[in-house]
Amino acid sequence: MSVFPEGFLWGAATAAYQVEGAAAEDGRCESVWDVFSRQPGRVVNGDTGDVAANHYHLLDVDLALMSELNLNAYRFSVSWSRIIDDDGAINRKGLDFYERLVDGLLDRGIAPFLTLYHWDLPQRHEIRGGWAQRDTAQHFADYTQVVYDALHDRVNNWTTLNEPYCASLLGYAAGVHAPGRREPRAAAAAVHHLLLGHGLARSIIGDNVSVTFNLYPVDPVDPDDPIDVDAARRVDGLQNRLWLDPVLCGRYPDDVLADLAPLGFADHIRPGDLTLISAPLAALGVNYYTGHHVTGQPGGITPEWIGSEHAHNVSRGLPTTAMGWEELPDGLFRVLNRLHDEYPRLPIHITENGAAYDDTVVDGKIEDHARQRYFEQHLGAVHDAIQAGVDVRGYFAWSLLDNFEWAEGYAKRFGIAHVDFDTFARTPKLSGRWYATVAGANALPEQG
Ligand code: FCB
Repeated sequence: MSVFPEGFLWGAATAAYQVEGAAAEDGRCESVWDVFSRQPGRVVNGDTGDVAANHYHLLDVDLALMSELNLNAYRFSVSWSRIIDDDGAINRKGLDFYERLVDGLLDRGIAPFLTLYHWDLPQRHEIRGGWAQRDTAQHFADYTQVVYDALHDRVNNWTTLNEPYCASLLGYAAGVHAPGRREPRAAAAAVHHLLLGHGLARSIIGDNVSVTFNLYPVDPVDPDDPIDVDAARRVDGLQNRLWLDPVLCGRYPDDVLADLAPLGFADHIRPGDLTLISAPLAALGVNYYTGHHVTGQPGGITPEWIGSEHAHNVSRGLPTTAMGWEELPDGLFRVLNRLHDEYPRLPIHITENGAAYDDTVVDGKIEDHARQRYFEQHLGAVHDAIQAGVDVRGYFAWSLLDNFEWAEGYAKRFGIAHVDFDTFARTPKLSGRWYATVAGANALPEQG
């Protein structure tokens, strides 16, 4: 048995646009994802989050599901579009939903982990330039103040941003996420303005604050080839150090500043910004799915890797999930140890980890052995990291429910509970039942 530390958090995660639905109800206004998903060709099958997993209407069902799965923590995001309307007024009905959610969690002994921004910028801000525009960070802080005032008496774990890498580089450089722009200079501006938004929000929330980054081990394909080694350096810079260094150390890495200089990145940094951005955190959120194995040799363009577009990933020949992501549990161990060894130490939450597979329903059951193994192997890596001294306090499976997987729509299922998108019935999968046992025992069984 691999026993976890006492009080370890066993959670699951979701995000507002991916599960809530009720897109035009109770005063919710449009976000960039509403607009983007309606544009032909943006999302597989033309799917949108209009109904999603119908969580907005099935809140009580989902709270009961969390109890059934033995969760003692739940990570969700608040939809900015529900909280402030297009006239800038506070929408009481939107706040009511999150108050009911938080109260329902507390009644069941489940700790709420609230994320303020999981990519759904109100469209009115995008029209004015989105995250490429500095004052979007101030609008984010104003919204934060409203949510904080309503919920700080009940919520102790606040996360400002989820994966600002995706919000900036996938949204503004690759154009594969909302708002779908392919403008590297705007993407560079968005990087800094998202981090500034984090800093401004942090100054409102105070100490109980965290931020979540998607982190990766980045390995050169040929460690003896200087071209591959430099490609790996650049990709590590964009994926990991561009976020960790300003937040944890108060400075952008010199080499990344040089890589991004042609895009005018440094022009956006004003005196005092990095002081705000690097104010102390209570914890760091880590999302982990896979690793990068990178070459700089010709072969493809990766538009989100601004400043290093010619770097690209090469398969290691490992098993992959339905997303095509290679399974690399040891990479999570490496990421956690790197944080421990190279950065100022603070408590870590694994705020997302999980996998999509092509589930089949047989006699009402989903026997997703591959997903169960994925969780088992990655939780094993977390346990190994804890044994090696890394201060990991909790783990959140992505995701509680099958949901709207961004540009992949409903085609990719990540839930530990299956959602029937016709009836909206929830059914714990084998992986979910296994996870409930592990959470209940606070231990992993021996791997067999
Ligand atoms: C992460 C996102 C999350 C989900 C998973 C699969 O990048 O934060 O919303 O889509 O990937």
